[in-house]
Amino acid sequence: GLQRNLPEFLELLAIPNVLTPEQIADCRKRMADATWVDGRVTAGHQSSKTKDNEQLSEDSHLAKQLGQFIVAALEANPLFISAALPAKIFPPLFNRYSSGQSFGVHVDNAVRQVRNTPHRVRTDISATLFLSAPEEYEGGELVVEDTYGAQRVKLPAGHMVLYPATSLHRVEPVARGARIASFFWIQSMVRDDTQRTLLFDLDTAIQRLTRDVPSHPSVVQLTGVYHNLLRQWADV
Ligand code: NI
Repeated sequence: GLQRNLPEFLELLAIPNVLTPEQIADCRKRMADATWVDGRVTAGHQSSKTKDNEQLSEDSHLAKQLGQFIVAALEANPLFISAALPAKIFPPLFNRYSSGQSFGVHVDNAVRQVRNTPHRVRTDISATLFLSAPEEYEGGELVVEDTYGAQRVKLPAGHMVLYPATSLHRVEPVARGARIASFFWIQSMVRDDTQRTLLFDLDTAIQRLTRDVPSHPSVVQLTGVYHNLLRQWADV
């Protein structure tokens, strides 16, 4: 509701229930027997010094399958579409932090090549989809440093956080258990965070108005404003 007007929502957004508990259980079961490799394989030069975790190999059949499954779920998620206005989604990757592992403060690479393809994704938005329940591990918070200070994020399994890829962030050491997540990037049709957030707020207000006062003529007018702004700002 009104909470969306608080400044922190300009920077970080939680998308609940991207996957159902049944889908999470299925993913986790299939990942249990998988081969995990050193996470430094996808790190840039600067971040490889502070990165200590494991990942599913990008080339593995399992990572590709699970990634496609997540992208399909996102494409059917109205909150994600409204907030991210995705042009391209980098194929999701998977990581695991076990006892003592962490990822020190870093910034994500601006452009990422999709492996074995000519495709590149500009990283406007970073996404972390939590695949472990918070009670499965101690520590392991994603800490995002934004304009308003450091925000600590640890969400239920199946929930996802979006944050600007421009931000400095880190993953706190896992003290017990294991933290499994999917992480990836989105190139948005609207690269500017402020413009994208304005569109999201406007869309949210229009949706509420459509629900509460569907016949009001302002619904059509505001929808026109939304699309005309999107037409001004979108690269497709
Ligand atoms: Ni990162």
